[in-house]
Amino acid sequence: MFKLVFLNICLSCCCRFVITETGLTTCGFSCDLLEIFKMGEHQACVKLSEEKLIPRADILSLLRTYNCYHEGKNFQLRTREEDGELILEGLLNIYWGLRRPIRLQMHDDNERFQLSVAKKLPGEANNNPLDRPRASSEVSGEEEDSPQLLRTRSDASFMRVQRRIKTQTSENLQRLRTHRFSINGHFYNHKTSVFTPAFGSVTNVRVNSSMTTIQVLNLLLHKFRVENKCEEFVLYMVHESGEKTRFKDGEYPLVARVLYGPCEKISKIFIMEADLGEEVTYDVAQYIKFEIPVLDSFVEKLKEEEEREINKLTKKYSALKSMILHQLEHKALHSDRV
Ligand SMILES: *[C@@H]1O[C@H](CO)[C@@H](O)[C@H](O)[C@H]1NC(C)=O
Repeated sequence: MFKLVFLNICLSCCCRFVITETGLTTCGFSCDLLEIFKMGEHQACVKLSEEKLIPRADILSLLRTYNCYHEGKNFQLRTREEDGELILEGLLNIYWGLRRPIRLQMHDDNERFQLSVAKKLPGEANNNPLDRPRASSEVSGEEEDSPQLLRTRSDASFMRVQRRIKTQTSENLQRLRTHRFSINGHFYNHKTSVFTPAFGSVTNVRVNSSMTTIQVLNLLLHKFRVENKCEEFVLYMVHESGEKTRFKDGEYPLVARVLYGPCEKISKIFIMEADLGEEVTYDVAQYIKFEIPVLDSFVEKLKEEEEREINKLTKKYSALKSMILHQLEHKALHSDRV
């Protein structure tokens, strides 16, 4: 039987990615279908996680579409071989989905004040909450071109904040410092170095296909020098439908990104608090878009249906029961007579 496991349609170029059970390719994210490959075939495959593999030919085909979509942008992925293994490398967009503030390491005040704000390019939400000097000096020349890293180092609003602080009395300074500053929608508290990245804003990290969820999370936290432990966070693939799938620790986010397709209108990778996020299955996601009154009426309809089914079953079994009783009586009557 042909079972559709995974379908992705790119809104921009209208290409479709269909990965089916029969096509030797499985997604393994929204469903749990596994393709078990024989050991000898491993080389022809790319790992999606420790246990899940995708044929190399399929990933290469998806990659062509992926790179075509990102034509002329820095989000194209490169491939290389290492010990016969296919490695993908490139930038991975991660959206901030945090509800609580994060703590930032404070090295020295100068460094802490190197806050800058990403320029928003038309059509792209590229707010990097912080640009610490190290994060930008680490990057290669190519990444420097990335729209994510076009930043203004002399953000006017921030300079004003700094100047204001200098002219305050120590009492006022204290008061000012405890105040949460909002910088381009990102909240930043001077005193505690507590920071809440604007929900839904995007950042990116340079990763490769052999990096696990944990490694990608660590890289992101390291980039922004977040003090919180990696275990406090998780990555989710959030689908346009509202479907939300948590990346398991051993999964490879970049491979998943290629499988889900390049279009972020359809699916985005979010970083969220481990204790706040919740998976939303496809079945549930179908109902998310409805208003509460509509959902209430669904529940009402389901109740009515349940009621009808119960009545039907009750009638059926009481009919059976009375038939059996009748037969028993009949039998008893006959045996009495004998
Ligand atoms: C992937 O990137 C990580 C971190 O930069 C690095 O340690 C690792 O060696 C890379 N893996 C491959 C196969 O290139």
